This record gives sequence, C-alpha cells and structure tokens, in this order.
Amino acid sequence: MLREADIVETLRAGGFLRPGDDPKFERLAGGVSSDVFRLETSQGVYCVKRALAKLRVAADWRAPVERSHYEVEWLRTARSLVGDQVPRVLFEDAQRSVFVMEFYDPRTHGVWKQDLADGRVDIDVARQVGALIGKVHAGTAGDLQVAERFPTHDLFEDLRLSPYLRQAARAHPDLAPRLLALADRTATTALALVHGDVSPKNILCGPDGPVLLDAECAWYGDPAFDLAFCATHLLLKTIWRPAHAPAYIAAAAVLHEAYLAQLNWEPAAQLEARAAALTGGLLLARVDGKSPVEYLVADDERAFVRGAARRLIESPASTMADLRMRWRELYEAR
Ligand SMILES: Nc1ncnc2c1ncn2[C@@H]1O[C@H](COP(=O)(O)OP(=O)(O)OP(=O)(O)O)[C@@H](O)[C@H]1O
Ligand SMILES: [Mg+2]
Repeated sequence: MLREADIVETLRAGGFLRPGDDPKFERLAGGVSSDVFRLETSQGVYCVKRALAKLRVAADWRAPVERSHYEVEWLRTARSLVGDQVPRVLFEDAQRSVFVMEFYDPRTHGVWKQDLADGRVDIDVARQVGALIGKVHAGTAGDLQVAERFPTHDLFEDLRLSPYLRQAARAHPDLAPRLLALADRTATTALALVHGDVSPKNILCGPDGPVLLDAECAWYGDPAFDLAFCATHLLLKTIWRPAHAPAYIAAAAVLHEAYLAQLNWEPAAQLEARAAALTGGLLLARVDGKSPVEYLVADDERAFVRGAARRLIESPASTMADLRMRWRELYEAR
C-alpha cells in the first residue's frame, strides 16, 4: 500500500484530490516500467501512472524516472495533433514522476495485442494506427520548439538503442558493424517526434478507434523507428499465431500505407530504407536483445526469427513492402 499512499500524498499536495477524499486504487496489468492504477475518487475514475526506477524485467534494468515527464509532454503534443486517440493528461507532478490521465474502461477498450492474439485482426484499427503515428510525425517534423522540449537523446539511447540494437550486436559479433551503424544512424537522425514504443500492447481499441498509450520513450529523432517498431511486432505475431499470419501481414501493409499518406517531410524512399533496415535489427533484438518478446519461447521459433532477421540485416530490404514480402517467403519456406 506504500506506493498508493505516496501517490495519494502527491495528488493531495498538488490539489488533484480534495481534502478528505479517500480514493480507491486498482493495479492495472502490464506495468513493467511503471506503477499503473485505476483510481476512483469522489470526482470520477482516472488512470494514474508513476515511473519506476527499476523495471520489472528479468535483467537488472534501471531507467531515470524523468522519462515520466517526457511521456506527459508526448501525450500533450500528440493530443494537440490527433485529439482523442491519445489520453488527456489531467495532472502532473514532474518531480515525483506521477501523472494522471483519462481512464479507458477495459470493457469498451481492449488491448490490441489481445485482439490480435485472438485472431480479431481489424484492418481498420491498423489503418488508424498508421495514420495516427504519421500525423504525429508530420505535425512535429522540423519543429525546433517541439525538439527543444524533448532533450531525451540519452534516455532513448538507454531505453531503446542500447538494450535492443547494441545488445543484439553483442550477441552476434559478426553482425555488430551493421547493427552498430544502424544504432548510430538512428541516434543522429532528428526529424520528428517519436513515440518509441508503438506496440500492440500499448494500443487500446475503443468504439472511436485506437488509443495510443505509454510514451515513456518519447524522443525527437527518427520517425522510421516508430514504423519499424510496430512492423516488428506485427511480423513476430506471425510466428506466435501462425493461423493468423496472413492477416498480420495484411495489417502491417495497411498500417504502412496509411502512414505513408501522412509523410510529407522527406522523400518516402529515404524513410522506407531506414525503416526497413531498422526492422531487421529490431526483429533480431526481440529475440537476442535485453527485452525479448515473452511469447516466443520455443527454440525453433526463436531460431527462425534469428535466421530471418540475419538475412534482413545482411542485405536490408529497401522498402517496407519488400521487407514484408521477404519475411513471408522465408516464413512460408520454413
Ligand atoms: N489511460 C488508461 N486507461 C486505461 N488503461 C490504461 C491506461 N493507461 C494504461 N492502461 C493499462 O495499463 C497497462 C500498462 O500501462 P503502460 O503501458 O502505460 O505502462 P508501462 O509500465 O509503461 O507498461 P509496459 O512497460 O509494460 O509497456 C496498459 O497496457 C493498459 O492496459
Ligand atoms: Mg505499456
């Protein structure tokens, strides 16, 4: 209860809770990097999130709690561009890394990952996710004022580039030059506001479309990262649930197409080449990085991903369509 008591004190001190209000807390599932609760007060139902200094993963993984503030900044910025597809922030105590946002009832807002796992692959959701990410990128591309609000280069390195690409390079020394070059190029690309964790587990599907959560990795950098990160998740689902493999690939295609419709800050071919190369690296990182996907446990599944990723790193696809085609060919020949 200690954590809840701390949060209550923070919310009282900041005036979010009325004196004497005794809120009810219910811990939400997920929450690897934060404490996330449903909070019920006399005023309504909310979601409160507090960043943890030590992540709940097998490896000892610490991350500065200041990332909470950049999540809030991302939510505010993105909401100004895409409206209700991103939760409204209602309160923040940046010093204590606590914030409150709107709560989405799980009865009306399921997690996209669960829908995908169950074979409910709604192409419309994929389309809306692609458009959502594309709008945030297009709306922030080349905007120095936004860039200044996200001095998160080191955080992104610690949360994403190092545990994924650089860790995979340590596991595969022969691929290290390519993986490290990929990480370095990503680190030095500063084009738009990146979410950094566009994963189906961070997307809720509601009656008004998808809602994107969990922006702790927000960074002003390479928009190709978001497209690649999400594509990686959809491709890995083909191994997890082979029965729905064609639907996942179709979802990735539609998401990509909707994303491209928003792209106006650089030639599509440039962004595509970076995204396709990154996807190869991230696929490998999701089996041999610091944060492997929890659903690929069988040796042959992991070996397939390792082998396919290796090919996509050694000779990168030039477009996302090419990458999906090659994945499908390897997948069908396995
Ligand atoms: N505003 C919200 N309304 C309803 N549910 C939410 C809300 N925010 C988060 N959740 C639920 O809590 C889960 C964890 O939240 P979130 O992803 O923000 O935390 P996290 O600790 O950063 O997660 P992880 O590191 O595991 O991805 C989400 O997957 C979602 O199910
Ligand atoms: Mg999450």
